[in-house]
Amino acid sequence: MNDTQFNGAQPHNEVRAMPLGMVRRFFNTYGGRLPSFLLEWTLQSLIAWIDGPLGLLLRRLLYTTFIHHTKGRFFIWPGVSLQHSYGLSIGRDTCINTGAVIDARGGLWIGDHVLIGPNVVIVSSTHDISSSPIISAAHILKPTIIGDDVWIGANAVIMGGVSLATGCVIGAGAIVTKPTDRFGVYVGNPARLIRYRSVGEGPTVV
Ligand SMILES: CC(C)(COP(=O)(O)OP(=O)(O)OC[C@H]1O[C@@H](n2cnc3c(N)ncnc32)[C@H](O)[C@@H]1OP(=O)(O)O)[C@@H](O)C(=O)NCCC(=O)NCCS
Repeated sequence: MNDTQFNGAQPHNEVRAMPLGMVRRFFNTYGGRLPSFLLEWTLQSLIAWIDGPLGLLLRRLLYTTFIHHTKGRFFIWPGVSLQHSYGLSIGRDTCINTGAVIDARGGLWIGDHVLIGPNVVIVSSTHDISSSPIISAAHILKPTIIGDDVWIGANAVIMGGVSLATGCVIGAGAIVTKPTDRFGVYVGNPARLIRYRSVGEGPTVV
């Protein structure tokens, strides 16, 4: 592909330098955590897809060791990818469904009784897009909060830095870019409030 097809964005030699820049950034940022990273990564790959009660139990044991803070029982279904779990706090009786991708490097607090649907993506960082090539760009950490009693529907994306207030519901496929109201129900991209749950302390249904 020539520069015109690239819209002139990248000189070829910088593109060739990508892998080295990425490796350097990785070691600068995470070098001290490497042994723990490799151990967790290896163990996760061995048990991530074990189905049934045994899989749930093994993943709870594994992540209780690596997650920054846990409060009690939590349930991680097969095929969940949990990255940088040292940044994760997870509440009791919270459930993360199949295929979810959760990156906790920027600090991620998940409350009690939270239901995270299949293939949900939660990121707590972003890349510095003023830096090029993007693959070598540093992460900007974005602490992210999921309150108690939140339900996130299948395939939703929760962007870094967002706070989901207690009791809110995120519809399937929504992309949440802003903080939500307590007990609010949100759908779409970008997610918009459609109503409030008629439970708890939420405002009256209108
Ligand atoms: C968000 C949700 C709970 C809302 O349910 P509800 O209150 O019964 O909403 P309704 O079906 O009455 O829909 C209300 C409006 O929002 C729209 N809507 C509902 N869910 C939507 C979604 N996920 N994305 C976009 N629009 C949606 C409806 O089309 C309807 O629009 P209209 O008023 O223009 O006709 C539900 O639609 C949803 O997405 N549930 C997640 C299911 C899931 O992911 N399950 C996985 C297992 S964990």
